[in-house]
Amino acid sequence: MKLSVVLSALTLALATSFAIPAAQAADPLVIKFSHVVAPDTPKGRAADYFKKLAEERGKGRVKVEVYPNSQLYKDREEMEALQIGAVQMLAPSLAKFGPLGVRSFELFDLPYIFPNKESLYRVMDGDIGKKLFNLLDAKGITGLAFWDNGFKQMSANKPLRSLDDFKGLKMRIQSSKVLEAQMKALGAFPQVMAFSEVYSALQQGVVDGTENPMSNLYTQKMNEVQKHLTISDHGYLGYAVIVNKKFWDDLPADLRDTLDKAMRDATVFERKIAQEENDEALAKVKAAGTTQVYVLPYKDRVVWQQALLPVHKEFEEKIGRDLIQAAYRAAAEVEQERAAQATAPAKKDKPGPVKADKVRKQ
Ligand code: LMR
Repeated sequence: MKLSVVLSALTLALATSFAIPAAQAADPLVIKFSHVVAPDTPKGRAADYFKKLAEERGKGRVKVEVYPNSQLYKDREEMEALQIGAVQMLAPSLAKFGPLGVRSFELFDLPYIFPNKESLYRVMDGDIGKKLFNLLDAKGITGLAFWDNGFKQMSANKPLRSLDDFKGLKMRIQSSKVLEAQMKALGAFPQVMAFSEVYSALQQGVVDGTENPMSNLYTQKMNEVQKHLTISDHGYLGYAVIVNKKFWDDLPADLRDTLDKAMRDATVFERKIAQEENDEALAKVKAAGTTQVYVLPYKDRVVWQQALLPVHKEFEEKIGRDLIQAAYRAAAEVEQERAAQATAPAKKDKPGPVKADKVRKQ
């Protein structure tokens, strides 16, 4: 446990105990929800929406304090803070569960494993999602929901078009062994770094480039310090909303139920806005004119995909072959369904045919 986390936790506890007079001891239960991104991102907006729903429906029994932008804790520290109960709720990206010892979550980091959101949701919302959440129990954590962000894009101060363009570049990654292997497979040098430090690291040239969905890139102003962006959709970034298990289990059952339902509704909202937020961010980056946007053509995506496929094999043991195979199956099922839909005679009461796409179609 880092000293800084323990000290921050103590400071928070002291501040809280002095701030609340004894007469108000039975005041609302406080849920501190800490996260590392800006408020105007899919995660940020959904955290605020959850607060609204929870407080309205809790009828004065609960208060949710949302702390965005690493205000309280950075990536790794926030996990520790949750485990010691200094905060009650987080939504770390799925990449950040590996360092906790739950390597199966790295499934979501595998490059090009989910060709579309549909196949991803089948995995998250099915038995695999449940299995992953069960693995958190032993860490004193309860998983409440999977939230979406989107597919990641590559950025740097030079064009990233062919695999050769990555050679020797220092690329910032989240703390995931899969992402480390991914960057190495591209010939780059991966550098693990907390999200809050990426902008200045790019500005100062500590790293040359990075990967993130557009909403994160734009809201952290990374486009101001990255001249080139490649729409590669080469990997996925999503979240698990988690709570301290003891805190959650100790809640009165009716309140837990209310919060659970608020989380369910916040999740529907979150998944609805995620793509819109990313599309909007891309439009804003283009409008800002700071960064040249290049869409990786299909033929080159296939080349990137082939270069990155060995990473799946490399992590089969750590992640679990069954999980990887299940993700492949989900992708194949979606593709078959889309193809069948595309060839079925048009029906008035159904949406129009969706064109099957072997690489990525969101
Ligand atoms: C990152 O570190 O790049 C992301 O995990 C940040 C986030 O939470 O979206």
